[in-house]
Amino acid sequence: MKNTPSLPKDLLSLVFYLLIVNLSMQPMLNIAVRAARSAGELILRSADNIGRLSIDQKGKNDYASEVDRMAEREIINIIKAAYPEHSILAEESGEHKGNDFVWVIDPLDGTTNFLHGFPQYAVSIALKYKGKLEVGVVYDPLRDELFTAKRGGGAMLNNRRLRVTNQNSLKGALLGTGFPFKTDKHLDAYVGMFRALTIECAGIRRAGSAALDLAYVAAGRLDGYWEIGIMEWDMAAGILLIKEAGGVATDFSFNDKYMESGNVIVGSPKMHQLMYQLIEPHVTDNLK
Ligand code: IPD
Ligand code: CA
Ligand code: CA
Repeated sequence: MKNTPSLPKDLLSLVFYLLIVNLSMQPMLNIAVRAARSAGELILRSADNIGRLSIDQKGKNDYASEVDRMAEREIINIIKAAYPEHSILAEESGEHKGNDFVWVIDPLDGTTNFLHGFPQYAVSIALKYKGKLEVGVVYDPLRDELFTAKRGGGAMLNNRRLRVTNQNSLKGALLGTGFPFKTDKHLDAYVGMFRALTIECAGIRRAGSAALDLAYVAAGRLDGYWEIGIMEWDMAAGILLIKEAGGVATDFSFNDKYMESGNVIVGSPKMHQLMYQLIEPHVTDNLK
């Protein structure tokens, strides 16, 4: 498929349009799934040899092992074999320029967990066309859980359709988050947000894989999630999962610039609103 048609104005054409877009993206979703499963197998095979892996430090508390690089190469090879003309944005090897289709890849989300044998990590692959998310896959190889989404086609966990929770108060809610561990620049603001939310909700989990945190919101396992300073490859697939499961995502200014700022709040529309009200008073100018 070379082009996605532009959005029609009347309802019937809109339904037809969604059907066409949905069907036309299926082969690309299939490739994303094949690549994610193959990378997942490679990651699992390496999980018994963690002590022998070569590891690079990319920045403060930021590591990449040879498994991250091998998994990324595997994913890119599978995508390039099917779509040689597509562009790629991948965490470990950066940008590979091509046409208006861009594959956004985190080959191993949760590297620190993986390197410690802490069983929470995933492969995340998304496809954008002209800046719009079309396909998203998050694969947890340990549990063999495959989260998939197609724009306009819903979100699935294996064969089950996903829906965000209908929790309508923070009382009793379970939230996910990530700590700002790479820099202490936003630590005070983060602690303010954490304090405000922890007083009101049932619990907050920091499991160590943003891609899975987002997938869990889509699956209703978490009622909401927020994090400061994540990257496009951490969130691209997960954001589409959430939107297709009926949830919303914004940055800390209630806009949709989360890919640019890296600051994100997600949940059902109600949970998002409740979280935003408590987060907003702690948002500094640098986080807007
Ligand atoms: C990290 C994980 C973590 C999040 C970090 C990410 P990586 O990704 O998603 O949960 O808190 O911001 O960088 O480095 O393991 O791919
Ligand atoms: Ca990541
Ligand atoms: Ca990664």
